[in-house]
Amino acid sequence: MSSDYISLTQPDDWHLHLRDEEALTTTVPHSARAFARAIVMPNLEPPVTTVAAALAYRDRILAAVPAGNNFQPLMTLYLTDSLKVEEIERAKSAEPIIAVKYYPAGVTTNSENGVSQIENVYPVLQRMEELELPLLIHGEVTDTDVDIFDREQQFIETVLRPLLQRFPQLKLVLEHITTSHAVDFVLQQANRVAATITVHHLLYNRNHLLAGGVRPHFFCLPVLKRSSHQQALIKAATGGNPKFFLGTDSAPHSRHNKENDCGCAGIYSAPSAIELYAEVFEAQGALEKLEGFASFYGADFYGLPRNQSQLKLSKSTWQPPKDFPFAEGVVVPIRANETVNWRIVEDAE
Ligand code: DOR
Ligand code: ZN
Repeated sequence: MSSDYISLTQPDDWHLHLRDEEALTTTVPHSARAFARAIVMPNLEPPVTTVAAALAYRDRILAAVPAGNNFQPLMTLYLTDSLKVEEIERAKSAEPIIAVKYYPAGVTTNSENGVSQIENVYPVLQRMEELELPLLIHGEVTDTDVDIFDREQQFIETVLRPLLQRFPQLKLVLEHITTSHAVDFVLQQANRVAATITVHHLLYNRNHLLAGGVRPHFFCLPVLKRSSHQQALIKAATGGNPKFFLGTDSAPHSRHNKENDCGCAGIYSAPSAIELYAEVFEAQGALEKLEGFASFYGADFYGLPRNQSQLKLSKSTWQPPKDFPFAEGVVVPIRANETVNWRIVEDAE
């Protein structure tokens, strides 16, 4: 494979925030330019807690897909303490719904309605285990006395290990992993346990967030960790193990909500995500492993067909703009006004 030009099966994004209404006119085209499918997170206000709401949200997303593009949103339900087993059964038989998202209550953006005590959702989890409906987990504890840098590890030990002991057949994805502990944990489990890895956790560590000044546009949850964890993630993502696959967690917030006394968590990576993953894999001399991570392992995990179309990337530089229009404001993308080293080759070129 030449190092200044690559062609891969069109990738999918297995973890994405698109928001709603007017914001969709910004976010949907950005993801659809590179990804064939995306799992869309349900943390809207109010959250997407019913099959009917998920299907209506899907229609609003599809209405924002550019003409001629075949982008397919895959939908999720937001798990609350009161979600009914019957809704899980309805979700299983609704084809565009492929998973249920678990937010510990209060863990991140719009998670107030998440699960307060895991015991409350045992009946639902048992049904999901029987139906092989995947559980997508934001894996952080919310206890205010646990250090924010330790919350993922603590979640793995105090919630996740016991959960898998109780529901050993549950299919689950530990989303946007950020630590070597998470990598090790996933490696120890059966193949029904997988993880997504964002491009920002591969490219950056907490120095980028904090050294030389606070950079609100590098603030996300789980928060960026120290470099040794970043290295563990890079090794996992580029190592060719099918338990690890692409999920951007691209999460737009307006500039105002980021550059604020209490700035929102989320990094908007969709406008250059696949290009930046290519940078990471290239830096490891592992470009030939990108296709598995970006285009095969997620589809295989979810039991979906691999995409037929191809995406071409050339090694040429460009700069994302300083911002994009976003609902009533603007959103600042990752690498705004800085160089990205790979570029999608449009069909017409
Ligand atoms: O940084 C994040 N932003 N982490 C999340 O878990 C949620 C997301 C969002 O919705 O903004
Ligand atoms: Zn997310």
